Formats: sequence, structure tokens, C-alpha cells
Amino acid sequence: MAGTGFVDEIKDKCNIVDVIGRVVSLKRAGSNYKGICPFHKEKTPSFVVSEQKQIFTCFGCGATGNVISFVEKYYNLDFMDACYKLGEEYGIEIRRGSPRDRERIERLYETNRIAARYFFDNIRKPGSPGLAYMISRGISVDTIKKFGIGYADESWDGLLNHMKSRGIDEGILMSLGLVSKSGDRYYDKFRNRVMFPIINSRGKVIGFGGRILGDGMPKYLNSPESEVFLKKNNLYGINLTRSDMASKDQAILVEGYMDVVSLYQAGVTNVSASLGTALTDNQAKLISRYTKNVVLSYDSDQAGRNAALRGIDILHSQGLKPKVLHVTDGKDPDEFIKKHGKLAFDELVDKAAYYADYKIDSLVRRFDLEKTDGRIDFIKEAVKVLNTLGPAERDLYIGKLSELSGVSEGAIRLELSGRKDVPQTHGQRHDAEIKDTGLTPVEKNLIKILINDKSYFNEINDNCDAFKSITGKNIFDGIAALITEYDEINTDRLRDLLDETSLAALDDISENVIIGGKEKEVLDDCINRIRIQKLQNRYSQISSILDLTDDSEKIRELMMEQMEIQKELQRRRH
Ligand code: UTP
Ligand code: MN
Repeated sequence: MAGTGFVDEIKDKCNIVDVIGRVVSLKRAGSNYKGICPFHKEKTPSFVVSEQKQIFTCFGCGATGNVISFVEKYYNLDFMDACYKLGEEYGIEIRRGSPRDRERIERLYETNRIAARYFFDNIRKPGSPGLAYMISRGISVDTIKKFGIGYADESWDGLLNHMKSRGIDEGILMSLGLVSKSGDRYYDKFRNRVMFPIINSRGKVIGFGGRILGDGMPKYLNSPESEVFLKKNNLYGINLTRSDMASKDQAILVEGYMDVVSLYQAGVTNVSASLGTALTDNQAKLISRYTKNVVLSYDSDQAGRNAALRGIDILHSQGLKPKVLHVTDGKDPDEFIKKHGKLAFDELVDKAAYYADYKIDSLVRRFDLEKTDGRIDFIKEAVKVLNTLGPAERDLYIGKLSELSGVSEGAIRLELSGRKDVPQTHGQRHDAEIKDTGLTPVEKNLIKILINDKSYFNEINDNCDAFKSITGKNIFDGIAALITEYDEINTDRLRDLLDETSLAALDDISENVIIGGKEKEVLDDCINRIRIQKLQNRYSQISSILDLTDDSEKIRELMMEQMEIQKELQRRRH
């Protein structure tokens, strides 16, 4: 079979309803199946599987794809591993690329493996400067073996000659970045360096990091990207440490090779490092296969702090739960643990800052809280952090922010509700005492705004279908009549137009709804709330239609509309 024929075979043989049905309870709905979406929290099913089209779609969270993408997403696998999993279960042989491509990839892995072995044999020779260097840095022979650490000597052709004697040509060494060329002469790229092989989760050597012995530039030389080495998809040490990440349900992410090796040797075995680059989405996804709890332990300098802030966002966006620690002594985790030992490091891990605290702390450093401007900017930024939290957590942090900035909790809540919750009881002080007159909070607020300032009439009139209660509608109609007739709202005239119940409601509003000069803000919140209500109604209406229809074109159309609604709802709730 040529190329990626196995992909078609998987799609043919692995019925998506079977595959998903094993992990999601599916119920028939028309020609489709429906269930609770496994990719977001929900109570009513919005996850639809089409047997005909062999696709799934969640119109709650927008997740969609075929049988392979489901397995990727559900089991946190990459594309190939998802294919292997399905292939194994359904007896399909997975062959990647053409036979020639596969052979080439295998040759690259094999070449890297032989090179790693060569470097490793070198470091184990008596009197190896590489070994002396590592010992001087406190690394034991056991650890060297465990990580397969090696040494590239000072000669310009040690590796080259070794590889040639094994029948490996220069071309393949060039494509792995193990040799360079000057004129028509090839020479070893890594010289006088301790060599850290980078090994992926399938145990293949994909590249190297080489540290110069002592001082020299560059301090670390890394393999270039190649057909088998993509930095953004891999983490150093993960081959050894992933099972402990899973069993401890926590991963510690550090910046450097030496940090990984040194922590591991000290017994912190759930550790890994991004490969000399900023943390990527794919690296976060890789970790999330083993654990969602990540402690970033980056260098304590400003660069390390900035990297931690960026790392938090990446991890958070991939659904992980980041914390941050910076060692309290020394430049990096390696220096710290050598000096203070594992227990002291464990303690730092235990006390690692929850990401929200870390971010707020960084804002405290950034803004001058002695100045009014600084405090306002601080609160604006801090509110963004609070919006990433759940309601209970958010509540706790409001108190903290108030203490830090001297801005009242009320003002912070207003800042938050300006974007989020709608003013149910905006400004109302004694909720318990308000007689329930059947009006919604939105109705009450709209009426109060009109009484305070008639210039909002047109805007509210455009949204007059918000007056759903009879009483609310009566009052609004009365106001509308006065505006049309006199272009002003005289309270006495209004009272004359109203029945007993509406009068009581109007008194209640005049007395208890206090807007405090925030008419415009409250109005915007009300309109937002009205729109959200309308969208929600339409959403449920579509759900009912979807339950009844069998027309797949129609279903697709309606599901698209629901996704659009979901998007707008998300926007409006922020
Ligand atoms: P650091 O400069 O913090 O080095 O770089 P380190 O990890 O403390 O190394 P030692 O302890 O001096 O041996 C952190 C990481 O950044 C990448 C490497 O992955 C390194 O581990 N780096 C650094 C490079 O790729 N090239 C460099 O020249 C320097
Ligand atoms: Mn270091």
C-alpha cells in the first residue's frame, strides 16, 4: 500500500460510533447519535456523532473531526499514535510514508543512535575530559548512564571517521547536523562538548545538546531541526520522566539540560525541559498526556520571570494548571538543589505560587500602587487575571486585590461586572426587603434609567421586548405615552396612568433601585443581558428542532448557527 493508505483503511474499518460509543454514552437522535461532550463540561447533550458522515461535532464547544481526530483528542495522542492505537484495535497495519521514506527515517534514527553510542563510549574512556567535567559538576556515573550522556572530543573527525567505518555517508550526517562542510571537507560539528542525547517518548534519539567544557561560545550547541527533530514537539528528559509525571500527577518544567539531570539525580524525577526555546503549545499538549499540574521552575533572573509569565499562558490555554517557583538561592534549580538538597527543593515545589498569585504579584511589581493612575491600571490588568478563574476563586481574589491596591471591593466588583455578570441588583442595598413585583432586574433597571434620564428612551424602546412582565410592560407603555405626548416624563402624570399593582412596582423601583450616576453602564449591561437571553432562547429552540429533523443539510446548518450563537455568548459573557 502506498503513502498513507492506512488512514483510509482506518476510516473505512473503524466506525466512529463504535469508537466513541466505548467512552461516551450515545443515544440515537434522528439519523445521528447524541451524547454528553467529553471535551467540555455540560449537562445537556450537544455532542453529535454522524454515522453517515463518520464525523463528530460538539455545538457546545465547537470540537469537531473524524474518528482519528477523536482518538487524538480524547486520549491525548499525536496523529501517528492515534493511528497506531486504532490500528492495533482493528487489526490494521500502520505503515508511514512510502517504503523508501520509512527506510530513510529509520536510517536517521539509527545514525543518531550510533552517534549517541559513540559519544557515550568516549565519556567512559579513562581520563575523559567530559567525565571529569561532569564529575566536577556533581553528576555521577550512574546518572551519566541513565541519560546516556556522552562526550565529543577535540578532534575534528572523530565522529566522522567512526561513522564512515560503519558505512554511514556524510550526506546523512549533514542532514542531522552532526557534521559541517568547509569547501569539500567535512568535519565534526560537536567538539569538546558534553553531549546530551534528546530522546523522544518512543525511545528514539532525535537530536543532541552539546555543552562546551568550561567557558566558550556558544555554551550550548544544539542539533538543528531535521526530519526527525522538531523542537516544538519535544521535551528533554521526557523519555525517562513521563511515567513519574503521571504517577506523581505533577510535572516540573525547567530551562536547561543540566537542571533536568541534576534534579533527576537528586530524586526529583518528574522533571523535563523545553529545548532552549520558549514553551510551545505542542509541548504543553505533550505534558498534558501525563498530568495537568505543572510547576514552572525557571531561572530567577528577569528572563526567567518573563518566560514563566508566557509559560503560564501557554499552559493555561491548553487546559493545564500552572504554578511557578523561582529558586531562592542560586541562579537555577541545578545550583539550588546541589546546595540545599532535595527536601529544600520539594518545599519550594509545595509552596509554588498559584499562577493567579504569580501574575498578580508581577503586576504589583509593574505598576506604582502609590499613584492613582498606577492603581487603576493595576486593577484593569488584574481583573483580566480574575476573569480566568472560577466564581469562588474570583471572589477570594477580589479581597486580595482590594488589600493590595486600596481600591474598594465594590469598585473592583463593578470593574468585573462591567464585563461579566449583569446588574441583577445593581446598587440595591436591601435585597430581602424588596417586594417581588414580578419584574425582572433588567426591567426594573431599565425603568429606573428612563425615570432618571429620558434621553435613553430611544435605545430602550429598541429593546422594549425586554418588558416581559405585565406590570413592567404597563409602566413602560405609560412612559412611552408620556414621551410621545409631552416629550418628558412627569411622575404625577405617569402615576395617573397606572393601576394599583403597577403603582406599587413603580414605588418599589423609585425607592430601591439605585443607579448612582451609572445609567450608561447599567444600560449597556442590561442590553447585553437581553441579547444573551435571546441567544439562549434561540439556542434551545434549535436544539428542539435538531431532535426532530433528519435532513442532514438542515442539521449542519442549524449546528453551524448554534456554534455561532455559542461564540457570541462567550464573547458577551466576558
Ligand atoms: P542557561 O544559560 O541557563 O544554561 O541556558 P544552564 O542550563 O544553566 O547550563 P549550565 O548550568 O551553565 O551548564 C538554559 C538552556 O538554554 C539553552 C540550553 O537548552 C540550556 O540548557 N541554551 C543556552 C542554548 O541552547 N544555547 C546556549 O548557548 C545557551
Ligand atoms: Mn545552570
